[in-house]
Amino acid sequence: MGPPGSGKGTQGMRLAQHFGIEHISVGDLLRDEVDSGTELGKHVAATMERGELVPDDVVTEMVTPHVARAAAKGGFILDGYPRTLTQAVSARQEADSLNVEADVVVWLDVSPHTLIKRLAERATEEDRPDDTAETISRRLQVYEEATRPLLDYYQGRGLLVTVGAEDDPEHVHAAVVAAIHGKLGD
Ligand code: AP5
Repeated sequence: MGPPGSGKGTQGMRLAQHFGIEHISVGDLLRDEVDSGTELGKHVAATMERGELVPDDVVTEMVTPHVARAAAKGGFILDGYPRTLTQAVSARQEADSLNVEADVVVWLDVSPHTLIKRLAERATEEDRPDDTAETISRRLQVYEEATRPLLDYYQGRGLLVTVGAEDDPEHVHAAVVAAIHGKLGD
């Protein structure tokens, strides 16, 4: 978990490689739907472009089969889900029904200054429609309102580890791996 630009995708890919499990990025899945012009993609494109969250039920329905498949193969890193308390409750219900358990929730802690700098830099290199100054600002606001409260929820469940993620990707990766091993006690 972490705000836009905190490195969820960057670290999610590295972690998946490190542990030999699947990286499930909900943002990437949604962008694939948009790029492929599916009904779902058409339904969510404008919402994503505004930096708002796609409806909870839509996201949970989309992600659950991916989780089920990856769990059957040995595990997964979920990137960008859940992002609301409603999603967190649904995720737990779905996990129970699949007999799947979350081992650890990693929160990437990055200052707002660095987040904005990273996303502004990406805007000059890539063409993500939600990397405009206005939408970046809205995404950060949505994170604060809808997603940050989940930190208390996962702290309460004893799953949360916080990792400072200002450093370069390699150092952050090492810190995340160490934090996960520390949490799992292995
Ligand atoms: P999503 O794609 O998840 O976007 P996001 O949360 O805004 O996050 P980003 O992808 O921008 O950043 P990140 O934290 O993954 O960092 P990254 O590694 O890319 O979601 C997009 C949209 O989909 C949402 O706005 C919403 O509309 C919808 N959506 C997704 N999930 C949803 C859900 N559960 N419910 C409802 N709607 C949902 O890095 C960012 C940049 O920084 C890159 O250029 C990278 O190279 C660079 N960088 C990364 N780490 C470092 C580092 N350590 N040092 C220097 N640069 C770095």
